[in-house]
Amino acid sequence: MLIAIASGKGGVGKTCLAIGLAQALAEAGRDVLLVDGDLGLANVDVQLGLHPGRDLGDVLSGRCGIGEAAIPHPAGFGVLPGRSGSTMLAALDGSALIGLLRRQGREVVLDLGAGLGAAQRHLAARADLLVVVATEEPTSLTDAYAVLKLHRGDAPAARAGVVVNMVAQRAQALKVHAALDSACRNFLGSGVPLLGAVRRDPKVPAAIRAQIPLLTRHPSSPAAQDLRELAARLAPGQTAFA
Ligand SMILES: Nc1ncnc2c1ncn2[C@@H]1O[C@H](COP(=O)(O)OP(=O)(O)O)[C@@H](O)[C@H]1O
Ligand SMILES: [Mg+2]
Repeated sequence: MLIAIASGKGGVGKTCLAIGLAQALAEAGRDVLLVDGDLGLANVDVQLGLHPGRDLGDVLSGRCGIGEAAIPHPAGFGVLPGRSGSTMLAALDGSALIGLLRRQGREVVLDLGAGLGAAQRHLAARADLLVVVATEEPTSLTDAYAVLKLHRGDAPAARAGVVVNMVAQRAQALKVHAALDSACRNFLGSGVPLLGAVRRDPKVPAAIRAQIPLLTRHPSSPAAQDLRELAARLAPGQTAFA
């Protein structure tokens, strides 16, 4: 299973979501590799306080394999770090990376970073599920719609869904989803499923400041609960994969 996480707008919580999802899936007994595909502004390692020796850039240039670059995190998942300031993703052969990721045999959570350039679109189109993260901000919604529109064009049969992050309560997620869903129905021919919602929670930035993953630092916080619920819904065999 390869889950890619995208957004359009930056700062909506993709990296937090990718880390939380990887940890929640690991807690549920899955063997997960979290991949920082945001090669321009890589920050999974920063959020987790890791000091990578090797990274995705080394893997892509053939200097080492995924197994040598991946760091085992004490929370039970592997991390393949990205490389900040690299322009490699722009020149990346997406099929080669997808091939490498699939061959290593673990479940993959891929943080695609903001925007949807050619390489990211290529990766998104080949994922088993594209998770588009949105918030209630109008700019986040229009950007999420733009990502979904491109993705529909690239891979009409591929699965994609929306996670609404930083909601005050669940009803807000339904409203945000309804707006996106109706835009997709009206202009793209069919709607988009709501995969889940994560509440706005001060424990999320607190965990980042401590550089400890949320589910370790604040395991019963509202956002941690929402991330576990989301992971349970995204696991193969569940409704999001039906
Ligand atoms: N559920 C949440 N509640 C509160 N703050 C959040 C939540 N999710 C993310 N954030 C905050 O939003 C900021 C951006 O998160 P990040 O994951 O880096 O976004 P992105 O990867 O989309 O750029 C971080 O400072 C983080 O603390
Ligand atoms: Mg990020």
